[in-house]
Amino acid sequence: MMNEMKTKQVYIQTIGCQMNVYDSDRMAQALKTIGFTRTWQVEKADLILLNTCSVREKAEQKAFSFLGRLPGLKTENPDLLIGVGGCVAQQEGERILQRAPYVDLVFGTRAIDRLPAMVRRATEKRCRIVDVDLSEAAMAPFPIESDDRNGTPQPARFVTVMRGCDNFCAYCVVPFVRGRETSRAPEEILSEVRSLVAAGTREVTLLGQNVNSYGRKEGLCTFSELLAQVNAIEGLERIRFTTSHPKDLSQELIEAFGRLGKLCHHIHLPVQSGSNRILALMNRRYTREMYLEKLARLRAACPGIAVSSDIIVGFPGETADDFQETLHLLETVRYDSLFAFAYSDRPHAPAVHFDGKVPEAQRRARLQSLLALQARITAEKNRSMVGAIVTVLVEGPAKRGAETPPSDSVPQWTGRTSTNKIVNFIARGEDSASELTGKLVAVRIDRALRHSLWGVAVRTRKGANRYAA
Ligand code: SAH
Ligand code: SF4
Ligand code: F3S
Repeated sequence: MMNEMKTKQVYIQTIGCQMNVYDSDRMAQALKTIGFTRTWQVEKADLILLNTCSVREKAEQKAFSFLGRLPGLKTENPDLLIGVGGCVAQQEGERILQRAPYVDLVFGTRAIDRLPAMVRRATEKRCRIVDVDLSEAAMAPFPIESDDRNGTPQPARFVTVMRGCDNFCAYCVVPFVRGRETSRAPEEILSEVRSLVAAGTREVTLLGQNVNSYGRKEGLCTFSELLAQVNAIEGLERIRFTTSHPKDLSQELIEAFGRLGKLCHHIHLPVQSGSNRILALMNRRYTREMYLEKLARLRAACPGIAVSSDIIVGFPGETADDFQETLHLLETVRYDSLFAFAYSDRPHAPAVHFDGKVPEAQRRARLQSLLALQARITAEKNRSMVGAIVTVLVEGPAKRGAETPPSDSVPQWTGRTSTNKIVNFIARGEDSASELTGKLVAVRIDRALRHSLWGVAVRTRKGANRYAA
């Protein structure tokens, strides 16, 4: 046990969605109990964990290409442990050990709480371990303690409120790698948000594959009721959530946008396709008309609400006409931002067996024309913001290489508007040295760039926070 007294370091590489970002933080937290601290330098690690995504083939390849770079490190440090977790681990299990013989641990999406015990066993017994148990019984409550990421404040954090998915969209691997839908109790969520706020968080994004069915199975409160309780937490400034399935978007939730002061004016409402025929094949259980009708109600309840979406092009059976309907939908809705993907066959997903697979070149061409159309819409929307004064929650100093005009050399900050637009900005003169991370700041937008806005902080009052919005 002596060696456990010494601090060891874990490096975690995260691929995939916000849930994986959240899960990686939980892995770090769970490993604290056996003496691991988190490092951001892979060469320093005693344990390397890879948190994987399986949603498209490309994400899976990314995992194996990261793994492929590790055998060298293991030669240098034979005590190094390597673990693979997340959705590819859940999907592939044992097979990962065969494919990458230097991997010591494979742990699934519901095995995070058991990770410390696995690491301990692998260290002591020098054996390789696989745990991909997805059963409900294997779930322990989430730890509710906050992690301050080595003392750097994190103004915006994720909080998972539900795990798994019961929707079985025809293309999707998620229900198979994340298991059945389960909601966390409101008390657990609220106490986690409170502890994050105490550690400096100002904005939380509540995560679930389909937040609208929150609590339904367990007979807990509705998602809108949960939002109202989170809204009441003192010190918290902003709330976001993702994702809401269009078929389940309730009038109660639509109205919450007009009612809850901290709920940001942005919704991610993935449409996937503009063609009713494709939507039916995808098993989405709504039509284009139903989608547009809910969107109109959202825009009535919350004028100016920003809307983003996910779209898959080249789903099996998608004709040129179906695709035109998707392009047309983009013109009708005018999304603020869009995540678009070429369809990718996934193990277990029913669409693997569908006829009418669209050739890769065509999928790629459709993706390009969709992205070009959206780029034009985004540019028009961003240009219309120039001259406006917006409220930005500052996430920290702008990253090197951020999209900013090249001539400015003053320190730059980055944050988001309530409508989820990225704003990089400067604070001039004596104020350039103020610490703005975690503050709400008024920024005048001077330029619209491709993926972000650029501006200057404006003084709104005297005193401690001169830029208070
Ligand atoms: N639960 C969320 C989405 C999770 S997956 C929701 O229902 O919206 C994120 C996105 O990946 C999906 O919205 C979809 O657009 C895309 N996606 C999922 N499976 C895919 C596949 N097999 N090929 C291409 N894109 C896919
Ligand atoms: Fe996948 Fe559909 Fe569930 Fe989203 S709702 S995770 S797209 S099955
Ligand atoms: Fe997320 Fe990818 Fe898994 S999108 S749920 S990490 S398959």
